Amino acid sequence: MADYGHGDLTWFQEARFGMFIHWGIYSMPGRHEWIQHYEEIPAEKYQIYFDLFDPDMFQPVEWAKAAKKAGMKYFVITTKHHDGFCLFDSKYTDFKATNTPAGRDLLREIVDAFRAEGIRVGFYYSLIDWHHPQCVVDNKIGPYRNLSEEEMAKMNEGRDQSLYAQYMRDQITELLTNYGKIDILWFDWSYPDKESDGMDATRGKGRVQWESEKLIRHVRSLQPDIIVDNRLDLPGSGDIVTPEQYTPDAEEKDENGKPIAWEGCQTFSGSWWYFRDELTWKSPEQCIKLLIDHVSRNGNLLMNVGPCSRGYIDDRAMNCLNAYGDWMKYNSRAIYGCGSAPAGMPVATDCRYTYNKKTNRLYVHLYSWPFAHLQLPELAGKVRYVQFLHDGSEVKWSENATKATMCAATAKNAVKVQLPVKKPDVLVPVLEVFLKD
Ligand code: GLC
Repeated sequence: MADYGHGDLTWFQEARFGMFIHWGIYSMPGRHEWIQHYEEIPAEKYQIYFDLFDPDMFQPVEWAKAAKKAGMKYFVITTKHHDGFCLFDSKYTDFKATNTPAGRDLLREIVDAFRAEGIRVGFYYSLIDWHHPQCVVDNKIGPYRNLSEEEMAKMNEGRDQSLYAQYMRDQITELLTNYGKIDILWFDWSYPDKESDGMDATRGKGRVQWESEKLIRHVRSLQPDIIVDNRLDLPGSGDIVTPEQYTPDAEEKDENGKPIAWEGCQTFSGSWWYFRDELTWKSPEQCIKLLIDHVSRNGNLLMNVGPCSRGYIDDRAMNCLNAYGDWMKYNSRAIYGCGSAPAGMPVATDCRYTYNKKTNRLYVHLYSWPFAHLQLPELAGKVRYVQFLHDGSEVKWSENATKATMCAATAKNAVKVQLPVKKPDVLVPVLEVFLKD
């Protein structure tokens, strides 16, 4: 496999929790982020959103404060999405925020606001582009996918995909030179045509059409430490694996079975963009468990927010962010710098484990409240002290099952923890187990 360089994952795996932001003129229809695809809206008809985009309540400082309060350490923002709209002032297109009624480089304000809160900066950049006049139209995705062969051929007359690939490199130069240090670049995404070995641009797009090899080398030459995702359809080009809208049930591995850094991206409801009528909002408890699940399997969580077209984060999303904030305020020690538990510590019933290597502390996240004991298998001889994380109050524990007041030892070499009958008022209570060195 070719070596395209590697980003700095040290801070990333320490941080564990970031905010994804999908925002642009696509927030106006407020239906699905793929409306141009689902409703087959051609670029001319889509133009109305561009002409009228006027985020009069744009509050990047509030976004940044909400992210900070939720405990998020980095953010990734859509600088350009599949519709081709650019939030930044690019020399290479007119389809940008500066030419809408907003009239300014919105990306810059967002970056400044997050940096001011000490949050690291990531850029999402869509490889797919349903607006650029040189990007070849295909029959797989996008507004033109149902055109007849003749209609499509007509649309593709004079289009030169390599000019579009050059356009992307030019915009990447802008993004990676005009906004200071960028920590993450999140390309999205590839769907090469299998039948033509990825060669037929009218049936799909991948490394050939994006010129991925040139693109990744260009990125690394501009910012060598930047973390790049794995969606360029080019093995060896990604630092992280990016499962989307599901939780992997174990740590992610590379082709050789070696653990690999990964980041799950998830939504509060089923959509990335602002979606007015979407009703499948996750509960605060689900949101918190998502974060714990990711970290317990050595992953990061990139949790998405889709501000509305007037530029603020609505109450539904704010409630979820606040739930994170309330929990993280007391329990972030079980997230930052943590990963999966060491081998030989099978997880207790109805729990998840996270573990901090540096402090040698194990965190037991109680997903359902037991009565009144919990067995931590295989921990006999290894425990020094146990407390609740939220208030630092001691939790009694024992290594033998002989006392009548203790439950029988069913788990092997268990430590039995004695819990209060009433669950503490914490959505997911956490035990902090100090292990012996
Ligand atoms: C998908 C979608 C896109 C979204 C992305 C986030 O690839 O095409 O709308 O931005 O997921 O991961």
